[in-house]
This record gives sequence, structure tokens and C-alpha cells, in this order.
Amino acid sequence: MRTLFIAGNWKMNPGTAEAAISLAEAVKAGVGASADVRVALCPPAVFLNRIDHVLEGSPIGLGGQNMYWKPEGAFTGETSGAMLVDAGCTHVILGHSERRHGMGETDAQVNAKLHAALAVQLIPIVCIGETKDERLADQTEDVLQGQLTGSLAGLSSEQMAGVVLAYEPVWAIGTGLTATPEQAQNAHAFIRGWLSEQFGPATAARVVVQYGGSVKPDNAAELLACPDIDGALVGGASLKAADFLGIINAARDVTAKGKA
Ligand code: PGA
Repeated sequence: MRTLFIAGNWKMNPGTAEAAISLAEAVKAGVGASADVRVALCPPAVFLNRIDHVLEGSPIGLGGQNMYWKPEGAFTGETSGAMLVDAGCTHVILGHSERRHGMGETDAQVNAKLHAALAVQLIPIVCIGETKDERLADQTEDVLQGQLTGSLAGLSSEQMAGVVLAYEPVWAIGTGLTATPEQAQNAHAFIRGWLSEQFGPATAARVVVQYGGSVKPDNAAELLACPDIDGALVGGASLKAADFLGIINAARDVTAKGKA
């Protein structure tokens, strides 16, 4: 079984460094020293450095929510991968649907960012997922295949094994609508099958594929128990320490019991 990986995507929250620090402190205290489940926090870029200090001595990883593909230069408002590393990051979220659909980010841009992230040893969390209209039109697998092909172009098998994927159906993000475990497992099995075709079964078996979209303490266990779901990318529920820790505890239970 792949080690389950729970990441909190704080998006553009909370409003102050003080609130961000207390949230990170509470998560750190709840997680303790145990590494049976991988955990990472992805705060807004301006808080990264301070949260890195909070997380000192903890196994919790730190992630950016985006980065630019160029290493330096005249790119106003952008952040390079090396800057994320310097701020203490181990991870970076790439191609989140709010960037793809809200800010016009393309698969080619996600791919450029992915190669730039790997070049500085950041662990990328690459997000993919269909919209409600695409699901209703029965295009889910076509959309996933297109995003996988474009976003992951040019990777070696060894690089692929170290990339985390997050399947996040756009209609389930921040809406309170969660994919059923069956819908999520079907999409994850499709992704695993695609990885196997492109990179071989041994690599496909190593890739961690998170689910994201209204994951909460009360639905986490049944999602995480699915054979191809290896963790969660959590938005709203990661902003309350008790909820985020509830999801981590659900992952610990699934880990202790093992998957069917
Ligand atoms: P949500 O967000 O948990 O609030 O639905 C998930 C995400 O956008 O990563």
C-alpha cells in the first residue's frame, strides 16, 4: 500500500500571518512525530517562511500553491521554484483548477512548471479534473487523458514516480458535493491505467494519486479506503485544525486496517 498523503491547500486564506501561524501550530501539535501518514500544508506564498519556522522539527511538509517556470528575471508578481525552496518548501501544487479555469493556465504551462519544479527537487502535486458539463457529457476520461498527456509530457519513469497527482473534479471543489467513492475510484483507476500504459506498471504502482473536492472528516475514510485513492488534497476543511486532523486520523485508521 502506498503511504497515504494528506495535503492542505489553504488557497488565499487565512487573512493574517498570526492566524496562519496558529493554524499551523495546531496542526503540528495534532500530527506529532508520527510519519505513518504523509502530511503537507500549502499556505499563501507570503506566509511560507513563517510557517516553515513553525513546522521545524515536525514531519509535516510545506508546499507552495503555484510557481513560475523561469528561474529568475523580469516576471513581476511571480515566484520561482528556487524561491519556494529557499522559503522552506518541499512541495508545490501545480495546475489547480482555480488556476486552470480562473486564470487560464494551460497544460503546456503546467508542464513547464512541472519540469522547473523537478529541477529544484520540489515534489509537484499536479491537479487534474473535469468540469460538471464535461462529466454530464460523458467526457471525463477524455478530459483526464488530455490533461495527463499535456501536463506530464517529457517525464522519465523515475521522475513520474516522484510526482503526486491530485484528481479533483471541478464540480466537487468548494461546493460541498463530493464524488462518491465509486465515482472517485473509477477516475483514479483510469488514471492508474493511463500511467501504466505510458510508464509501465511498476511506475504506475508507485505514483500517489490524491482525491480532492469537499473532503471532510466524515467522508474521508470511505474515499481513502478505495484501492487507487492514496490521499487527499483538502481545501475548506484544511482551514480548521480539528477538521484537517480528523481527515489525517481517518487516513491513519485506513493505514492501520489496510485496504481491501
Ligand atoms: P475543497 O477544495 O476541499 O474546499 O473542495 C479542494 C481543492 O481545491 O484543492
